[in-house]
Amino acid sequence: MKITHLLLLFYLNLSSSKCVSVSDPPPQDLVDQKCLLNQYTHRSCNKVFCQPWQKCVDGSCVCKLPYQCPKNGTPVCTTNGRKYPTYCHQKSFECLQPQTKFSNNGTCTAEGKFNISLRYGNTKAEGIVQVKLVDQDEEMFICKKSWSMTEANVACVDLGFPQGAFVIRRRFNIPGNLRINTTKCLHVHCRGIETSLAECTFTKRRSNGYQGLADVVCYTQDEGSPTNQSFRCVNGKHIPQERACNGVNECGDQSDELCCKDCQGNAFLCKSGVCIPNEYKCNGEVDCITGEDETGCDETRHPQIRENLARSDQDQGGETEETEILTADMDTERQRIKSLLPKLSCGVKRRTHILRKRVVGGKPAEVGDYPWQVAIKDGERITCGGIYIGGCWVLTAAHCVRPSRYHNYQIWTALLDWLKPNSQLRVQAVNRVIVHEKYNGTTYQNDIALIEMKKYSGKKECELSNSVPACVPWSPYLFQPKDKCIISGWGREKDNKKVYTLRWGEVNLIGNCSQFYPNRYYEKEMQCAGTDDGSIDACKGDSGGPLVCKDVNNVTYVWGIVSWGENCGKPEFPGVYTRVANYFDWISYHVGRPLISQHNV
Ligand code: ARG
Repeated sequence: MKITHLLLLFYLNLSSSKCVSVSDPPPQDLVDQKCLLNQYTHRSCNKVFCQPWQKCVDGSCVCKLPYQCPKNGTPVCTTNGRKYPTYCHQKSFECLQPQTKFSNNGTCTAEGKFNISLRYGNTKAEGIVQVKLVDQDEEMFICKKSWSMTEANVACVDLGFPQGAFVIRRRFNIPGNLRINTTKCLHVHCRGIETSLAECTFTKRRSNGYQGLADVVCYTQDEGSPTNQSFRCVNGKHIPQERACNGVNECGDQSDELCCKDCQGNAFLCKSGVCIPNEYKCNGEVDCITGEDETGCDETRHPQIRENLARSDQDQGGETEETEILTADMDTERQRIKSLLPKLSCGVKRRTHILRKRVVGGKPAEVGDYPWQVAIKDGERITCGGIYIGGCWVLTAAHCVRPSRYHNYQIWTALLDWLKPNSQLRVQAVNRVIVHEKYNGTTYQNDIALIEMKKYSGKKECELSNSVPACVPWSPYLFQPKDKCIISGWGREKDNKKVYTLRWGEVNLIGNCSQFYPNRYYEKEMQCAGTDDGSIDACKGDSGGPLVCKDVNNVTYVWGIVSWGENCGKPEFPGVYTRVANYFDWISYHVGRPLISQHNV
């Protein structure tokens, strides 16, 4: 334990001595440089949720097929005059064919066409933003007050500048001899993920003349010669360094907000290292993949807060201004579609009861405490643990099983004490064993295997009423070092004493584990866990069993599989677990995506 702590402190001291400590760290320190190498964008489902018309495959959001959209909704029209049954259908079609862009909610009317143009600039890439909405006869300007980089990025992409906006709030002069009506302007609000400005919400407001109109310079090759003070977005755009990790999607592809150690300004840091605008906190929609932006919210008060916020926004400038809503709120529609998507049930115990509290140093479990825990019996002995993940599938360690021996195995579910079998216990025969094709018995790399249980005769599925599947983590960012997690199993005690009843113990996830196992630890594939004094650890016989972690909503994930470790319960040698999140795609390839995909099947 002492060794661990000293090393850690030493490391922290080294890394913090690089800069003088001030209240606001310099922006480059906010950014995790190693993370940037992954080139994450708004389509990286390791960092963000996919759109409801997309699904997450191999870490990227890819287009769903339109027929997978929820059926109910109102029709929408595209710029090429085609009608779709819902916004989701249109967006999923657009995802496959990007020229099919959104025009308006409702039917396609002959006269209606959305149009956006930039006026009074010196080039085609800049000017004051003018818009003609469907169902409105006159072209109108956009109010400066509503205009941010978020909206400007959408407008520029819509105009054919794929990297979005370069700057806003430049001065463009409307020639004095032009008499244009600027008593009203269009207030616009975008989420920042729209592909057309037509998807944003427009309301009519009173304007304060030419000065109050929105403008933009779109990003072109000539703009923004990079300096060492600039941040390079994944889409190739350069933005000022100090605008990274501020919650504002300045890049347009969100790449400036996805690798953050901290956030500046008006932003909230998700545990997954993503900065989101403070307004997204407690707004009813989960934005952090780890869920904490919507926990601890005062449910009854928040709609009121939102209303008040909207009002104070209008009040700025004296009296209340009446506003005229001109377009449908497609962002609300997007949220509604999201809420209609099927949800997977995993990681939540059927009934919760108080744990009575001793694996090495653990405590005995009670019926229903670890409903995903299974025992693997090979012949007469319980040799390993396993984790139920749904359907007929059990996850275990590769070193526990051999495909050719499948008929010797039995899966015991809901077992507590194998000397005194409890009534909930059920025994399943095994149909098939799949060992990871890159499992290496010498290095313990890819120590993961799947067991398919046999269905009872005449049954179509494995109905395990005595078990609950643990959720399979789809992102390596769901849990972090120092998070508290639980191990369980029938493995030996420290003194190598035999154990007959299921035991459990709490451990911490440990980072930088190569310091304990030089040249033996593979960060991407393995995860260390243990306690400072080594009092809690997995041991011989626990292999294949679960290391589970709970998220902020008390949903349980199988974060690791008991794999190896030097001795048992020695602080200088923590337990090593197979990092399950690294194998999401391998697992889903074998068991089928719908069985384990919590978000967007
Ligand atoms: N390989 C062991 C087994 O077969 C698991 C060892 C885990 N060891 C540890 N110190 N965490 O059961």
